[in-house]
Amino acid sequence: MDLTEAIFGRRATRHYSSADVAEATLEGLIHAAVHAPSALNGQPWAFTVVRDRALMGRLSRDAKAHLVATSPAATDSLHGPMADEQFHIFYDAPVLILISATAEGPWVVEDCALAAQNLMLAAYAAGLGSCWIGSAQTYLNTREGKMALDMPAAWVSVAPIIIGHPTVVTAPVSRNLPLIRWVD
Ligand SMILES: Cc1cc2nc3c(=O)[nH]c(=O)nc-3n(C[C@H](O)[C@H](O)[C@H](O)COP(=O)(O)O)c2cc1C
Repeated sequence: MDLTEAIFGRRATRHYSSADVAEATLEGLIHAAVHAPSALNGQPWAFTVVRDRALMGRLSRDAKAHLVATSPAATDSLHGPMADEQFHIFYDAPVLILISATAEGPWVVEDCALAAQNLMLAAYAAGLGSCWIGSAQTYLNTREGKMALDMPAAWVSVAPIIIGHPTVVTAPVSRNLPLIRWVD
């Protein structure tokens, strides 16, 4: 797929079929992710791939509970669904790829975010949907969240990305005009 088509066509996907995504395909997405630039080529990332639906369900439940307990905004209109028992924070996607920083440093979050963007664009080019689930991030960085995924305590999760086969075509959401300042 043409890069421009991928950049303009990718959408946050929130409706997935229950079909699995082949392991080789997921490895291909991660291969694209690690071709992102990173500060000093440090590549301070790891990819935790979760495909266990029961575990995804438990993570969803615990991440919502954590958000409701810790965020005063958790029941406002933005976070309202967090109090809804039926709401699946990962939208029943078959795969979660959690990109975590494995080292400390001033740019590890930027590095992981760039890897995440590559991964989401590659997913779109492969006919898959993706969505960054920021609302799960704080829980995944708790001691309990890390233990649930058997992750080293020192890693810092940056990008929980769900992946799967979309069941609907997601309409584009509008963009503001960019604020451009030409300083000549
Ligand atoms: C850092 C970050 C966190 C996000 N967190 C969530 C989330 O928790 N739940 C969700 O449904 N979408 C989440 N999104 C998706 C955004 O809502 C979406 O990218 C945005 O509305 C623009 O839509 P588009 O990706 O289709 O262009 C997140 C996106 C980013 C970059």
